[in-house]
Amino acid sequence: MKLCFVSNNKNKLLEVSSILKNIEIISLEDIGFNKEIPETGSSLKENSQLKAKCIYDNFNIDCFADDTGLEIESLNGEPGVYSARYAGNRSNSTDNINLVLKKMKNSTNRNAQFRTIVTLYLKSKVYFFDGSIRGTISSQPIGKFGFGYDSIFIPEGYNLTFAQMTGEDKNKISHRKKAIHKLNTFLINN
Ligand code: IMP
Repeated sequence: MKLCFVSNNKNKLLEVSSILKNIEIISLEDIGFNKEIPETGSSLKENSQLKAKCIYDNFNIDCFADDTGLEIESLNGEPGVYSARYAGNRSNSTDNINLVLKKMKNSTNRNAQFRTIVTLYLKSKVYFFDGSIRGTISSQPIGKFGFGYDSIFIPEGYNLTFAQMTGEDKNKISHRKKAIHKLNTFLINN
């Protein structure tokens, strides 16, 4: 089976391909789509669905997309759906991390979770899968692996950030792994 993964993020593509071992994953580059899909939804689910719908409507191919947010308790769930552009429209991961750490300077509650929603368009039907992982936010970025907020997220039960883990180790426990694993089980059975 062939499925297009609606993401320009090479790190995500690697993570997803290593879990969906029996599916031929096609990238946006493979189908010649190089535009940014505006994430105008007000929830992770809406953004996840609008990315998958855009490719399904334009190319009529089975596809899936994910949307992920870092939800921090002491920031009332922020950055959440705004995780990609928390420090402004042109912000990069370093800017976003710096803003999170600045806002949490005096927070003793460091609890947070990563949450992913995957949307699948398969034979004209839409399906959703979710995955989350709880953890805490470190007081400074640590580690060189991964991407996004990995260097400030310490998963529950560990004393390492995601960025101190190899991709393989992160992939055993991550939010995206859990959602993609549910997708994989669904695809095997359908
Ligand atoms: P999106 O799901 O690609 O829209 O990602 C939203 C934001 O969360 C971006 O800033 C990503 O870099 C970040 N992000 C998504 N997945 C992860 C992850 O697994 N670890 C750390 N940051 C992530």
